[in-house]
Amino acid sequence: MKKISLTGIQATGDIHMGNYFGAIKPSIELSKEYNARYFIADYHSLNTMKDPKELSASIREVAACWLASGLDPERVIFYRQSSIPEVFELSTMLMAFTAKGLMNRAHAYKAAIQANNEKGEDTDSGINMGLFTYPILMAADILLFDSDVVPVGKDQTQHIEMTQDIAQAVNANYGQPILKIPQGAISDEVGIIPGLDGRKMSKSYGNSIRLFAPEKELRKHIMRIVTNSQGVEEPKDPDSSLIFTLYKLFASPEEQAELAGRYRAGGMGWGEAKEALFQAANRELSPMRERYNALMADPDGLDKILAQGAEKARPIASATVKRFRRAAGIDR
Ligand code: TRP
Repeated sequence: MKKISLTGIQATGDIHMGNYFGAIKPSIELSKEYNARYFIADYHSLNTMKDPKELSASIREVAACWLASGLDPERVIFYRQSSIPEVFELSTMLMAFTAKGLMNRAHAYKAAIQANNEKGEDTDSGINMGLFTYPILMAADILLFDSDVVPVGKDQTQHIEMTQDIAQAVNANYGQPILKIPQGAISDEVGIIPGLDGRKMSKSYGNSIRLFAPEKELRKHIMRIVTNSQGVEEPKDPDSSLIFTLYKLFASPEEQAELAGRYRAGGMGWGEAKEALFQAANRELSPMRERYNALMADPDGLDKILAQGAEKARPIASATVKRFRRAAGIDR
């Protein structure tokens, strides 16, 4: 039987190329080998997003991005966390097995406290219980679906370890494997996608290229990439060029070799290199952009896809909760 891979996607809007190459594309690749269960973690997003318009738009944008990027909802169970009430039931049960001290040690929570202390504010200022219990909700997301592997970024390593700890506490207490212990599939940082200024592409650095920006905006972004002052005639080093690094993501090996040759030969200006990047990026992105726009233009259709995913997910979720309730003595 195929192993189960599961991952949660925060509903933060403005998906950029870094998200695509760092998370979306590899996760979709992985979904071909595994029994994949991917969901929008909208209750996690509620911790930070209190504007209903913003949250609702983000949920749909993110879902449409993944679908437009090639996630096949026939093969992947694709749903919203908020459609699975068992997540919250399991989360409550897991709380009984989670030491408060474990949560005290969570990186995100510790960072928030430290920031308050440094500002001389009350230690808990602006920290809600959703942030404090974030790792428990995430553990419930994972454990509910008997996940074998959880593809995530490096920053999520601690959350996976906590999930393992909590699941082990449950299994040890009842002396039976109620919950499957998952493994993280941590993506390495080698493949970090640089942004327009050469630092890691990130919305918070303002150096990102929106994945489905209209063609004109895509070109404008690419033309804004920072270059050195080498003239047209000078030979250039492809391997230290940000433009070339991005080009490699979109071009075939032959195309890469050809452009690298033109860099080294001299006679090609930065403008031309940027144009080559734009053409290659647009070639891959424009059919996806069209699908994205079509999905966004049909919110009912999009909701229906997610609802169908939830329908497939619910029976799996309720089996886990039932198993746990029986073991716990809540049910006979
Ligand atoms: N915390 C994850 C992130 O910020 C999102 C997430 C929520 C998640 N639940 C999950 C990831 C379950 C993997 C499995 O990226």
